Amino acid sequence: MEFKNLLFAVEDGVATITFNRPKALNAMNTETMKELMDAATLCRNDDAIKVLILTGSGEKAFVAGADISEMQNLRPKEALAFMELGNETLRLIETLPKPSIAAVNGFALGGGTEISMACDMRFASETARFGQPEILIGLIPGWGGTQRISRLIGMGRAKELIMCGEQVDAKRAYDVGLVNRIFPLDQLLPETKKFARKLAGMPGFALKMAKHSINYGYDLALDNGIRLEMECCAQCFSTDDQKEGMKAFLEKRKPVYTGS
Ligand code: CAA
Repeated sequence: MEFKNLLFAVEDGVATITFNRPKALNAMNTETMKELMDAATLCRNDDAIKVLILTGSGEKAFVAGADISEMQNLRPKEALAFMELGNETLRLIETLPKPSIAAVNGFALGGGTEISMACDMRFASETARFGQPEILIGLIPGWGGTQRISRLIGMGRAKELIMCGEQVDAKRAYDVGLVNRIFPLDQLLPETKKFARKLAGMPGFALKMAKHSINYGYDLALDNGIRLEMECCAQCFSTDDQKEGMKAFLEKRKPVYTGS
């Protein structure tokens, strides 16, 4: 599939979507968001794709936010449509039945941090910078930032970031739990791909159930969340991979997973 503002590649079961509007620091306009929706849909529907990586082209930015020049003159109704498109796309990524990793290679501001938070994990370069600076241009986050960042780092820290609009570096983002791993910039993508290939070799249905149980259990009362987990765990017993995993363990050999 060809895109204007994204690069799309699949290798060893790992799809990589690269935001590619370097002149605007990969800011997300409507056209790019629609392309992201199409690329994410492709990842959802293609069983050969096991893991998704999102990253930015160049060395400066992952995504520097929603495109301010496009948003500048929007009326509320148009702004709502712009936010709806972004949220539909991010929710699609968040609910993919396979893991996703944001490889954050520079500025991830506003919509950039929001896109990264729709992924299951965030790996960052030492040069990465995160933030929700919308307040500095008279806005608040519109692609789930107020909701996801407070879930990830707690309400007090979320309010500080959103109300002050300050950027945080990769180390601080790691310390507060926004980032999973940090790498030197030149190692970010190779290390993320290595990690993704490892995930691609895991039993796919169990990965899907793990993600489902965490995502949909998070907002439930504990009893209901545990019930959901039990059902997801029990479903794994319908797979060949569960049988192979346990058999291989007992035979003291490496399992060979087929994804069925
Ligand atoms: N939208 C549109 N264009 C952007 C942009 C954005 N979010 N971010 C950067 N650009 C453009 C700049 O306008 C500039 O274009 P020109 O060369 O044509 O002037 C180019 O990218 C390079 O940017 P700078 O010259 O500003 O680069 P810098 O190194 O001095 O600063 C930066 C980098 C700190 C990331 C700065 O560009 C910046 O603050 N960008 C805006 C960040 C922001 O506010 N993001 C939130 C957007 S609102 C949002 O995302 C709402 C939502 O939740 C959905």
